[in-house]
Amino acid sequence: MAVIPVDIAGAPYEVRIGTGLLANLVEHCSGRLRKRRVPVVTDARVHAAWGAVVENALHQAGHEAAWRILPPGEASKSWDQLAATVDWLLAEEVERGDHVLALGGGVIGDLTGFAASILKRGCKFIQLPTTLLAQVDSSVGGKTAINTPAGKNLVGAFHQPSLVLADLAVLDTLPRRELLAGYAEVVKYGLLGDADFFQWCDANGAAMLNGDAPAREYAVAHSVAAKARIVQADEKETLGLRALLNLGHTFGHALEAQTGFSDRLLHGEGVALGMVLAARFSARRGLMPMASADHIARHFAEVGMASEIATLGLNCDGKALVAHMLHDKKMDAGTLPFVLMRGIGEAFLARDVDLDEVADFLDAELQR
Ligand code: NAD
Ligand code: GLY
Repeated sequence: MAVIPVDIAGAPYEVRIGTGLLANLVEHCSGRLRKRRVPVVTDARVHAAWGAVVENALHQAGHEAAWRILPPGEASKSWDQLAATVDWLLAEEVERGDHVLALGGGVIGDLTGFAASILKRGCKFIQLPTTLLAQVDSSVGGKTAINTPAGKNLVGAFHQPSLVLADLAVLDTLPRRELLAGYAEVVKYGLLGDADFFQWCDANGAAMLNGDAPAREYAVAHSVAAKARIVQADEKETLGLRALLNLGHTFGHALEAQTGFSDRLLHGEGVALGMVLAARFSARRGLMPMASADHIARHFAEVGMASEIATLGLNCDGKALVAHMLHDKKMDAGTLPFVLMRGIGEAFLARDVDLDEVADFLDAELQR
């Protein structure tokens, strides 16, 4: 098992990564579960795959699971499900010192974390991430949110979990497409600040995706350690450092918006394409070799991900994609910061990007 400390002032916690952690849940929670009944929020698919393991782990240690099982999918990150979840926690008589368990992907983690942040002005929660994306990104760092009709993740809070248990066994039941979407966030850590890790992904990514256990543990632990370093230094995204985690997200967000935030393009798929675009745009500006940008595209294609936006059938031009970017929540006093690259592993925040140039660039990419 790998243990990565996340040393946030006033709210330090551990991310534990290994196989079989859910089956030994209570031992890992070491005294945090104070009452017999333990509230667990999950979605129906995760409950079907892993509910019994969690139920047994709690039962064997003298606890009883109180389940709140939501419909799978992004639509559960809503005002309605937030209100219903908070009401349910109140009915369960959860106190500020109690822990709520969030068993699921980013949807469950974000919703449960937000509910925990406002219940009685803040109760505690433990992340039990069940997707690769949640293990390497959303369960760590304390961003919680719901979506509103105005956009994704527009209402939320910073609220750190007390513990994250990333059980690698859960990845065995995750659909391949979801695994690949999470893999984009793994590669992101290499591209934004660690060229050696990108090389590792190039050499070992396929094996990791195909189930190589040591490679999985290395990839998740290395990613979590990278995220921990960043959120420790810039918890609330005020210093321009945490913003680097948005590499590929501004371009990706436009692609997700153009495809209606639907199953046509998963978030991680948009991020992978967005990182290729950020790299090629950087190359077009003379910041990095085009060969490096194409190397990134080739890597995603080799593991079976879309790497060219021309293949998406978007039926729009560059201006339409830029128009989506203007609704990005990262807009800051009329300008949109972009994460660009001076090379693989050398991301930086650019505040001087001309959106007409972006539209021209996207027109060319759409025709590629
Ligand atoms: P998700 O939570 O919707 O899970 C994807 C699908 O996989 C769902 O259908 C789920 O039921 C299923 N699933 C989950 N675990 C499974 C398992 N082990 N076996 C079988 N099926 C399983 O999606 P996600 O990609 O994990 O998360 C996306 C969300 O995360 C988005 O809402 C995004 O905004 C958010 N996010 C948050 C942060 C953050 O820092 N808080 C970072 C990145 C993304
Ligand atoms: N996923 C981006 C962040 O946590 O800041």
